[in-house]
Amino acid sequence: MFSEFTGQEKVCNRLEVMVEAARQRDDVLDHILLSGPPGLGKTTLAYILAHAMGGNIKSTSGPTIEKAGDLAGLLTTLQRGDLLFIDEIHRLQPAIEEYLYPAMEDFKLDIIIDQGPNARSVRLNLPKFTLVGATTRAGMISSPLRSRFGMNCRLEYYTAEELQKILLRSASLIGIDIVSAGALEIAARARGTPRVANNLLRWVRDYAQVRAGNKINQVVADEALSMLDIDSDGFDEMDKRILEAIIHRFEGGPVGLNSLAVALGEDAGTIEDVNEPYLIMQGYLKRTPQGRVALGPAYRKLGVVEPRSSGRALL
Ligand SMILES: Nc1ncnc2c1ncn2[C@@H]1O[C@H](COP(=O)(O)OP(=O)(O)OP(=O)(O)O)[C@@H](O)[C@H]1O
Ligand SMILES: [Mg+2]
Repeated sequence: MFSEFTGQEKVCNRLEVMVEAARQRDDVLDHILLSGPPGLGKTTLAYILAHAMGGNIKSTSGPTIEKAGDLAGLLTTLQRGDLLFIDEIHRLQPAIEEYLYPAMEDFKLDIIIDQGPNARSVRLNLPKFTLVGATTRAGMISSPLRSRFGMNCRLEYYTAEELQKILLRSASLIGIDIVSAGALEIAARARGTPRVANNLLRWVRDYAQVRAGNKINQVVADEALSMLDIDSDGFDEMDKRILEAIIHRFEGGPVGLNSLAVALGEDAGTIEDVNEPYLIMQGYLKRTPQGRVALGPAYRKLGVVEPRSSGRALL
């Protein structure tokens, strides 16, 4: 339920109003788009919504729907009030997207049966259902698709205090002894992301079990995370390599995403979706039309003197 979901207050308040209103009218929830970086709770929220409405949830993802028939197969098994969850909805093929429009808008589906000269289109009525779409790339959703969602929710990174609360709850679920300062130490290094926080917690638990008498306090958390090369800002190896590449190999930028990806031997999409949002939010990087540029905190982080912008042209 919503009460077990910590943080994202604005989004949760809106969704709770929608759920309450639909339930009072004995109606079906409007379609909802959830966007935001990986691991912030989009899938979790979709399941909470289905549970709150008392309907079933069918889950699929954009790239797995290859043919219109796959989508028709899913849609025709829905019952009134069911929730269809499409993860990575920005990766739906355009032809499938168009097929989805009348289903979302009028709960109708045009299916082509037979082939060749006998081919004909049959219009099917669908039960009223709720589509919940999730995406890490809100910018890649076409505007016709976006406009068919009645509610568009953007999830934000969590504060350390929110993550601390999530960690204390997770710790009690997995049965590990943790003090709140230990949870805060992990929270501060979890890049604002519950999934990262929970992953780190499992590692710190292993460390505590083998090296620290099965108890997590601040010192134990710090030792365990340092052993993973996760520093006090929550930077992992990739984050550091990104900043190093921009500063040392591309003179601080601007550098295009693709050149950066080649220099790092990493996939451009992963850099853009997974690492960059946090680095940008924390003020280490900015995106400009010419490419990525390192900012003051990035230089300080690497212990490098920030060049004056006029200086570089003279070199
Ligand atoms: N607000 C929250 N409170 C407690 N746990 C949370 C919260 N948000 C996420 N989690 C936990 O974090 C993990 C990741 O959440 P989830 O899978 O919902 O993220 P997601 O946004 O769907 O990520 P992706 O974009 O990678 O699919 C889950 O294990 C979930 O239980
Ligand atoms: Mg998900």
